[in-house]
Amino acid sequence: MRFTSPQTLLTLTVAATSVAAAPFEYPLPDGFPTPSPAQIAAIEQLAGGTLPNGPSPANLTKTAITNLHLLALNEFFETAYFTELLANVTNDVPGYDAGSIAPLDKTYVVDALTAVVNQEQLHALGINAILAGAGHKIIKPCEYEFPVTTFKQAILLAQTFTDVVLGTLPKAQAIFAADGGDESPLIQLFGSVLAQEGEQAGFYRYVQKKTPSAAPFLTGGSPSFTFTAIQAFIVNGSCPQPLPDIALTTFGTLNVLTTPEAKNMTLDFSVSGSVSPFNNSIVYLSGQNLPVAVPISNVKPVAGAFQFQASFPFESGFANGLTIAALVKGAGTTFNSTDSVAKATVYGPGLIEVD
Ligand SMILES: *[C@@H]1O[C@H](CO)[C@@H](O)[C@H](O)[C@H]1NC(C)=O
Ligand SMILES: *[C@@H]1O[C@H](CO)[C@@H](O)[C@H](O)[C@H]1NC(C)=O
Ligand SMILES: *[C@@H]1O[C@H](CO)[C@@H](O)[C@H](O)[C@H]1NC(C)=O
Ligand SMILES: *[C@@H]1O[C@H](CO)[C@@H](O)[C@H](O)[C@H]1NC(C)=O
Ligand SMILES: *[C@@H]1O[C@H](CO)[C@@H](O)[C@H](O)[C@H]1NC(C)=O
Ligand SMILES: *[C@@H]1O[C@H](CO)[C@@H](O)[C@H](O)[C@H]1NC(C)=O
Repeated sequence: MRFTSPQTLLTLTVAATSVAAAPFEYPLPDGFPTPSPAQIAAIEQLAGGTLPNGPSPANLTKTAITNLHLLALNEFFETAYFTELLANVTNDVPGYDAGSIAPLDKTYVVDALTAVVNQEQLHALGINAILAGAGHKIIKPCEYEFPVTTFKQAILLAQTFTDVVLGTLPKAQAIFAADGGDESPLIQLFGSVLAQEGEQAGFYRYVQKKTPSAAPFLTGGSPSFTFTAIQAFIVNGSCPQPLPDIALTTFGTLNVLTTPEAKNMTLDFSVSGSVSPFNNSIVYLSGQNLPVAVPISNVKPVAGAFQFQASFPFESGFANGLTIAALVKGAGTTFNSTDSVAKATVYGPGLIEVD
């Protein structure tokens, strides 16, 4: 997977090859992921609020469990990421002088990230409590590596994966709603988490002097896109639970080679396997619009991979912020939902940030 944006072209191929720092490992000094009651109270203090104290569902469907596993996996990744980012800013690691970006000052950024780290810990603990409460396996954290070495890169990446989460949580809500019964209270609970992540996304955009709210309707996703995206940061083989036990698909990597801009343009892509204009297309998910499928062209083998091009019709109604690209099976097919795109996907998600 590759994350791209107009300002910075980040080559975020799987981190293991390019990152010198040691992988991030739990536990944290505050006891997380298994804090004592006193430690939980301290985390809640720093998070600005407590874990929910209402009853949790006695019964969960298989699909709900899969989604809770995905969400917990994501919260452990986010907690690791923001813990490391907070440490980098606090310790004045070169490239992390957050105070140099007017109108920020270091204390404000440290306070903001401290809240986020503790809030993400409570998200993870809360999801595991829902799983355990219904008698299901909880998620345990893995080891992580992050392909960023400056504050600016780190904030852009935080914006990008938070945008992915903003498209994932509505999907989880839809699943809980379809299941009904015991799961109904989870719709509101995750509505509050969704809004919380939206507050974070506004901060990450503000730091980059982007309009805090990107678009009227943000981009949706599909659980397997998020599942694949998170794995780019997980050290291979480091998860206590085998990831294939989570009933989602891991797609091949779709690299977006061009820096996208907020206009109609052509993008270059690459994938590891052979593709053809007769059998494949690129599909974009942007805003709450129907998926947009475009043909691919100029397929050529390059250094053991396959490069090709596709148009990026941004001016036909795409949303600012995140657009998700996927290389799908079939040419000339139209898709009417994000899930139907995921079902046809071979390589993806390509995460494209514009503005
Ligand atoms: C929920 O789980 C309980 C305990 O496992 C079981 O007795 C009950 O039948 C379940 N209810 C539904 C609606 O599945
Ligand atoms: C923290 O800084 C180290 C050293 O530059 C870097 O390797 C790591 O990716 C950074 N992590 C984050 C989340 O910014
Ligand atoms: C991760 O490990 C699996 C199983 O050992 C292997 O098939 C895969 O190629 C590895 N992936 C990376 C990116 O190293
Ligand atoms: C398209 O897919 C079909 C069926 O899988 C295959 O036989 C054919 O060779 C493919 N065409 C190209 C140009 O790759
Ligand atoms: C952008 O591309 C779309 C789709 O091809 C087209 O409908 C639209 O007219 C183009 N807009 C501009 C300003 O070129
Ligand atoms: C999407 O398309 C499928 C198959 O073409 C159809 O069964 C389904 O009802 C459509 N869904 C929507 C929301 O239009």
